[in-house]
Amino acid sequence: MNGGATPAAGVTVRVPAKVNVQLAVGPARPDGFHDLANVFLAVSLYDEVTATPADTLTVTCEGPDADRVPLDRTNLAARAAELLAARHGLSPDVHLHIRKAIPVAGGMAGGSADGAAALLACDALWGLDSPRETLLEICAELGSDVPFSLVGGAALGVGRGERLTGLSVAGPFHWVFAVADGGLSTPAVYAEFDRLTPDAAPPAASPALLDALSTGDTTALAATLVNDLQPAAVSLRPSLAATLRAGLDAGALAALVSGSGPTTAFLVKDPDAATAVAAALRASGTCRTTHTATSPAPGATLL
Ligand code: C5P
Repeated sequence: MNGGATPAAGVTVRVPAKVNVQLAVGPARPDGFHDLANVFLAVSLYDEVTATPADTLTVTCEGPDADRVPLDRTNLAARAAELLAARHGLSPDVHLHIRKAIPVAGGMAGGSADGAAALLACDALWGLDSPRETLLEICAELGSDVPFSLVGGAALGVGRGERLTGLSVAGPFHWVFAVADGGLSTPAVYAEFDRLTPDAAPPAASPALLDALSTGDTTALAATLVNDLQPAAVSLRPSLAATLRAGLDAGALAALVSGSGPTTAFLVKDPDAATAVAAALRASGTCRTTHTATSPAPGATLL
């Protein structure tokens, strides 16, 4: 528990983590961002955000890594409340309580998820009933991954990743996630990508990967998973190579760094394989803990 008591009542939103099954990264743009072809897939690992009326904007957090979650205005949940309130001339007097299961600074859009969840929760609490388009606009203002946290399922993000097109996705796909010690800074990983990839090509989505998603073909998806940020994440955190190896040795069909890392993602055949690969990863001593999950998963949802 970080920062206070659990609220007794309020509006609660459940929101999923994501894995990028394809993250194609182009050269740095003049604004410092990178054009992406970013294929997001939501996974069944969830944070919950509860919004209750309060005298002033406060954020509290519970969960195994709650002490690593900022409770000030840098928290995307707080910023979401501020942006929504500002649009309506309201004061963002709300207590946001985060139940955190998504790894912190792990490359699974945990902070983005909390931003999208807080936005939806405040919208309901304040009775605003904002159109979906408005919520998506605010999400894009909060961060490149936030619109996808609202939408869930599977989507292709272009531009800096915020311009979404929904994708057809079957499934279920079964995943194991290995959580590393500490986080990685997303800007630092992109900077390392620039250093390692001076000749980055314009990004494009892989037709074979989109086909594997829509047909629910795990073997085909395993053959097409690709993350252009992986060499940069491994360069900054060389120990990730051993984690990736340990999961493959344990029978995962494919392994990759999730987003900007340092969480690693392992695609497996079925729930039994997920249990076995997770146990082997924990026994390998190359990660702090593991989660198993399936995809697709729904986006931010009022409970
Ligand atoms: O949009 P968001 O706030 O999540 O981005 C965090 C950082 O990640 C940016 O400041 C930038 O350094 C990097 N980034 C990028 N290109 C993207 C998305 C993020 O360079 N498409």
